[in-house]
Amino acid sequence: MKTLLTGGAGYIGSHTAVAMLEAGHEVAVVDNYYNSSPEAIRRVEQITGKAVTLYEADVADKDAMRKILKAEMPDCIIHFAGLKAVGESVAKPTEYYRNNIDTTLTLLECMKELGLSNIVFSSSATVYGEDNIPPFYETMPKGVCTNPYGWTKWMQEQILRDAWYADKEMSVVLLRYFNPVGAHESGLIGEDPQGIPNNLMPYISQVAVGRRDHLTVFGDDYDTPDGTCRRDYIHVMDLAEGHVKAAEYSVEHRGTEVFNLGTGNPYSVLDMVKAFGDACGHPIKYEIGPRRAGDVQDSWANADKAREVLGWEAKRGIDEICRDAWKWQSTNPQGYGE
Ligand code: NAD
Ligand code: WQD
Repeated sequence: MKTLLTGGAGYIGSHTAVAMLEAGHEVAVVDNYYNSSPEAIRRVEQITGKAVTLYEADVADKDAMRKILKAEMPDCIIHFAGLKAVGESVAKPTEYYRNNIDTTLTLLECMKELGLSNIVFSSSATVYGEDNIPPFYETMPKGVCTNPYGWTKWMQEQILRDAWYADKEMSVVLLRYFNPVGAHESGLIGEDPQGIPNNLMPYISQVAVGRRDHLTVFGDDYDTPDGTCRRDYIHVMDLAEGHVKAAEYSVEHRGTEVFNLGTGNPYSVLDMVKAFGDACGHPIKYEIGPRRAGDVQDSWANADKAREVLGWEAKRGIDEICRDAWKWQSTNPQGYGE
């Protein structure tokens, strides 16, 4: 199968490129490197020994995308390109709505022009909002989001669903990721956040490698066994393999389908701190701080549908997650920037 990965040089896209190539599919990537580096794709080629066709373009640029899609005519598009920092989205809402919505509309318009019908989309567990109680099922109503980033995902899901409603020859697969973490086991590719990390695992990794002094745990007074929030941390290679199954499904089925990509197992912040300390061989220094605005206490998936329909389930646990994150961080302490 020929695939086109928008935002494929980013964290999840680059790992998915590896999984796609290893499953025998062809991969082309389009990225503007807003939050990534072409070095990630060079390393994908190094891991797999296979070539990736790489385009530098803005996915919201219709002329550029028309040319790229005409050249590739992919069987399936996986749409990763987007801005993803929750806090930044509160400060710069129009940039988030513009980029995330425009890229999706441009893709849909070009797909229609060229008769391309299959798209897999990077959605997020954030669309379940604050009021649903975990485990989250795909059948639950979407919730009220707490930030513009979350609303872009909520709206992109709706836009894609409406596009299918108007054209039943389309196949739309909406993947709701839980908390993607870890790195490829080679240590060659991984998450490379710019500036101070917002997310837990990159922050812990940078403390472990000595780039930051200590982690601040955002609140230990939640109604959970150790008082810290619980999440469904999923190894990025498990997530990547879920995309292979979703893309294969998309070419064989018409309709709009939603799948949670999570493990179904919640772990607390302190569970992750402990597991990372075990993986890197020294304890992670942390202090307890106040709660972070907008955090939900608990989030985890019911992962039955992906297992039953796609034949996919997460295989790696938090020990592999921490082992691989540590390998990436310790061998690339400055990310791709070195
Ligand atoms: P990332 O920032 O590493 O990757 C996104 C990629 O898209 C980057 O390479 C960036 O340069 C590119 N990009 C952004 N806007 C673009 C544009 N207009 N044109 C071309 N390229 C553009 O992020 P990621 O963690 O790999 O996330 C991939 C997708 O998954 C995003 O849509 C994100 O919202 C979604 N998602 C991520 C998480 C997470 O925790 N990482 C969770 C749920 C959903
Ligand atoms: C995990 C836990 C924090 C940092 C975010 C987005 C979500 C999705 C995934 C894209 C929480 C705690 C964190 C720190 C801490 N992204 N924490 N100290 O908030 O579950 O999800 O990324 O769709 O939309 O909101 O992930 O990694 O930021 O936090 O104590 O320095 O770690 O409070 O309990 P989150 P996270």
